[in-house]
Amino acid sequence: MTVAFALLDLLAIALFIGGLHFLNAPPTARFGNRLAAVGMLIALVVVLVQTMGVGWWAIAIGIAVGGAIGVVAAVRVKMTAMPQMVALYNGAGGGAAALVSTVELVVSRANGVQALDPVVAVSLALSAVIGAVSFAGSLIAFAKLQELMTGRPITYVGQQIVNGFVALAILGLLGWFIAHLGVVPPWTYPALLVAALLLGILFVLPIGGADMPVVISLLNSATGVAVAITGFELSSTLLIICGALVGASGTILTIDMSRAMNRSLTNVLFGAFGAGGGTEPAAAGGAPQNVRSVSVDDVAAMLAYASKVMFVPGYGMAVAQAQHGVKALADQLEKRDVKVLYAIHPVAGRMPGHMNVLLAEANVPYEQLLDLDAANAEFPTADVALVIGANDVTNPAARTVKSSPIYGMPILDVDKAANVVVLKRSMRSGFAGIENPLYELPNCSMLFGDAKASVDALTAAVKEL
Ligand code: TAP
Repeated sequence: MTVAFALLDLLAIALFIGGLHFLNAPPTARFGNRLAAVGMLIALVVVLVQTMGVGWWAIAIGIAVGGAIGVVAAVRVKMTAMPQMVALYNGAGGGAAALVSTVELVVSRANGVQALDPVVAVSLALSAVIGAVSFAGSLIAFAKLQELMTGRPITYVGQQIVNGFVALAILGLLGWFIAHLGVVPPWTYPALLVAALLLGILFVLPIGGADMPVVISLLNSATGVAVAITGFELSSTLLIICGALVGASGTILTIDMSRAMNRSLTNVLFGAFGAGGGTEPAAAGGAPQNVRSVSVDDVAAMLAYASKVMFVPGYGMAVAQAQHGVKALADQLEKRDVKVLYAIHPVAGRMPGHMNVLLAEANVPYEQLLDLDAANAEFPTADVALVIGANDVTNPAARTVKSSPIYGMPILDVDKAANVVVLKRSMRSGFAGIENPLYELPNCSMLFGDAKASVDALTAAVKEL
């Protein structure tokens, strides 16, 4: 029986790894997701059978409540709110790892065990600390993104010293607990948990909302590590390997996102990006700028008689849910032999792959989606760059204005196209809260309005030509 369980564990792990592999490319991503879900089902059944009879009712109620929350969330949560949902789920994972450690310790004490096995002492204390940091940090990330609290960095004098002090206290308590194999005064473990929760809160407070997806990804990898360590505590190969997979993929994503913003992880975590300094944020409602507004008919003519048009989607396309309208406009242009390409910035929108997911939903062919480098090679020969609700990712200040908070971030060089048309509702700034000098360039014009209404009107106008 043990061999059968081990083989099933192996099968589940292989399905997880296969699932991750297929997530590499949009056409196979759905299949990868389903493959991993089958792996998860196998893992669940194996654990349930192995623990047959233990707390059946509690498990059944847990599955029913958790499953119901999962289904409702999957159906109701909007694509734009996905980062905070991931934060919440990730927090749950970290909290679960800390809870498992706490229960293990309570049960050991109840069984009269004084000195813990060294492996258990190390893994128990580490997974409790990492899990609690991840739990508290994820909840703050969720609150910031859900606007339950300010999304701006919360900073104060001596902040890093306070955080350093809490981190040192945790290290001290951790070392003490492990060195004495858990034979320490009873307040030590609760103090360790409280300090870890506090660090989770304190470390996320000074990070701005714009950097939250990076932080969530980092916390995600922390949860993975906590879960892997819990695997040592419970002697579960499945947990060790799955936790390691989450830890590794979270780390890779964190590094990739920081690179896409041309920022070091240290700068993301400790730079209080968006706290002020650099360029003043554009006032809500619009700082006065010397911009040119155009009509739908003018833009439709520009598009219809172009030979190459590049669509540049951003967060506004997601808010307006304009992806289907964008595809309809592309179809209309292609009927007139206009070549249409899509320029996808790696951090356009609010989560990795945001634009790819939306455009895939609208059945845009994957071959038309160009990544940053490929798109930038095409702009100089494009007749029109149609910017649809994107702002920061097109901001040329990133190339030239050293004082700009986004200086150095690789951007889509839309200004190199012969004409640029920007679809947005007002002169409000994007997520980084800074003005965009693109709008004042002589080859740039603005088509104000909701992105969906604008693209629908453009499609109708192109049809008329
Ligand atoms: P943003 O810079 O946030 O700009 C979006 C623009 O869309 C806004 O200027 C807004 O202007 C416009 N908009 C909003 N609703 C609209 C609607 N219904 N119709 C038309 N326009 C609308 O977006 P971006 O260019 O995609 O850049 C993403 C930002 O998020 C970057 O700063 C990036 O660093 C940050 N970020 C992203 C990620 C990931 S992983 N994607 C992670 C961390 C940070 P109006 O209000 O005037 O309409």
